[in-house]
Amino acid sequence: MQFAKRLQPLKSNVFADMDIAKAKALAAGRELIDLSLGSSDLPAENHVIEAITQSLHDHSTHGYLLFHGTREFRQAAASWYEKKFGISVDPETEVLPLIGSQEGTAHLPLAILNPGDFALLQDPGYPSHAGGIYLASGQIYPMPLKAENSFLPVFADIPPQVLAASRMMVLSYPHNPTSAIAPLSFFQSAVAFCQQHNLVLVHDFPYVDLVFGDTQIPSILQADPEKSISIEFFTFSKSYNMGGFRIGYAIGNAELILALRQLKAVVDFNQYKGILNGAIAALTGSQTGVKAGVERFRQRRDAFINALHRIGWHVPTPEATMYIWAKLPEPWANKSVEFCTQLVEKTGVAASPGAGFGKSGEGYVRFALVHEPSVLEMAVERIREFL
Ligand SMILES: Cc1ncc(COP(=O)(O)O)c(C=O)c1O
Repeated sequence: MQFAKRLQPLKSNVFADMDIAKAKALAAGRELIDLSLGSSDLPAENHVIEAITQSLHDHSTHGYLLFHGTREFRQAAASWYEKKFGISVDPETEVLPLIGSQEGTAHLPLAILNPGDFALLQDPGYPSHAGGIYLASGQIYPMPLKAENSFLPVFADIPPQVLAASRMMVLSYPHNPTSAIAPLSFFQSAVAFCQQHNLVLVHDFPYVDLVFGDTQIPSILQADPEKSISIEFFTFSKSYNMGGFRIGYAIGNAELILALRQLKAVVDFNQYKGILNGAIAALTGSQTGVKAGVERFRQRRDAFINALHRIGWHVPTPEATMYIWAKLPEPWANKSVEFCTQLVEKTGVAASPGAGFGKSGEGYVRFALVHEPSVLEMAVERIREFL
């Protein structure tokens, strides 16, 4: 059978190699400690589950949800932004519910790019950002994120001919996989750069709450209060442990929101109303569970980092996210896929190879802190034996 060319880049995925290696480890009887997926192991909160349960018994929630979700959902999202960032948002025109941030960020390029247009992406970056560009038959210019630049891209390094053919830039801080955070001043320079070059600025913002210190994490909309070119994506998967529920929203420039809404209208009928009600409960209810979740991840981070340091693997302590981005020691320095496949086959510890997040991710490995400290310490003990 003949398939579209755009399918080709979606096939080669180092994470598929990892799945095979994990299956081999299981078949060999190894006990798996899976630190390869950023899927929170913590449960959604009771008041969220309660709101969804009540909705299930309300037959009026069972039909298609047309237009752009419910007014209550859009209002809850707008109010949350106002409270957290002091940004006023029009719930009618500047908010759109999504079936997860991944869905929204992957669909948006279809509304922005013509075939062959460039998108400027972070390298390393979240794989579905690239996937969305491939779906739109666009071209990717990977902006390298280097440790010496605090994992922020250097805009001056983008070749002028690429810039001339570019239509959008995608950023995401706190960043998966490097865990880097970006100051507001960086976002301000990104907004100015994108305005100067007529680029849409997309900011994927899943880890806004998963921050360990007192650092203020900025929204891109604080750097673009007029919402002239920016759109931001929020998900309930991380702050509220609702990954399986598939709910998020886009917020920002009204024209971009409308374009994404028009595009999505072809593809889906919004998320189920009961899930939207759960998300409203999450946003408007007590936030103590969010804080408690962050504290759990902070304890895990400390346990894992301390254990790595004890075995002589010195990695920086991240201030945000649920990931440890570790530079591989010799002799694995540029063999992240080999390191991860052999590690899981020999020890049962699964991690994500840096190369899976882009060329500049090579030389690193990402550990997701999705187990309790004692399990993380056990994983490090197995890593020690492996090394
Ligand atoms: C940068 C980034 N974007 C999007 C997602 C997925 O979010 P959602 O569950 O809302 O699709 C993740 C999940 O790990 C992520 O790290």
